[in-house]
Amino acid sequence: MAEQNYEKWEDVYRRGGEGPYPWDLGRPRDFLVQLLEKGMIEGDRALDTCCGLGTNGLYLAEKGFNVTGIDISEKAVKIANRRARKTRKTENINFKVQSFMDMDFEPGSFDFVLDIGCFHHVAKEDRQQFIENIRRVLRPGGRYLLMCFSDRMGPAWNHFSEQQLRGLFSGHFNIMILEEISSVEGDGVTRYFYVSLMERSSK
Ligand SMILES: C[S@@+](CC[C@H](N)C(=O)[O-])C[C@H]1O[C@@H](n2cnc3c(N)ncnc32)[C@H](O)[C@@H]1O
Repeated sequence: MAEQNYEKWEDVYRRGGEGPYPWDLGRPRDFLVQLLEKGMIEGDRALDTCCGLGTNGLYLAEKGFNVTGIDISEKAVKIANRRARKTRKTENINFKVQSFMDMDFEPGSFDFVLDIGCFHHVAKEDRQQFIENIRRVLRPGGRYLLMCFSDRMGPAWNHFSEQQLRGLFSGHFNIMILEEISSVEGDGVTRYFYVSLMERSSK
């Protein structure tokens, strides 16, 4: 059942083409830029999970990361790769079609995992597997940056409270930052999110 829901994204991108989309601001997320500038995200190999059109992944490549992006939508990945080819970092970017449930990377393949609007689309029954997948592909000490819907927007299966997020992630990661932000999204609507920077515990 869950997998069918994920498949709907291909229709979303086939209908919407190059966009605009509410979730894609056409520029990297401010908190990503700030954390990078503060030196809180380091390393070489980054995974952008649910990369969409690649806006944030392309920014990471520009900043020197070797970027792998995965998304379930073939159409989104095609557009993201087309955009990558227009940059000077083409050889450092690989966007590919893959579900976050089927991540086939070797353990410890990445220094950094970026998740902007991905986890909140993971079906409830897939959450533990998703979190284990992220942890597995990160090297010990690697960092995971999450942005997901906040329950300030009202109750919904994928709107999270701080307590819920701590419960879900603290057994797998050291939570370094967990804060709520508001953001005027691409459709002009203000939405509330939690942003969290976590470090993979070495155990
Ligand atoms: C809200 S969008 C965020 C896109 C991108 N991170 C951004 O900020 O522009 C959610 C993305 O999750 C992708 N997605 C949904 N289910 C997926 C799955 N099972 N595996 C990989 N990507 C998935 C969708 O295709 C879509 O691009």
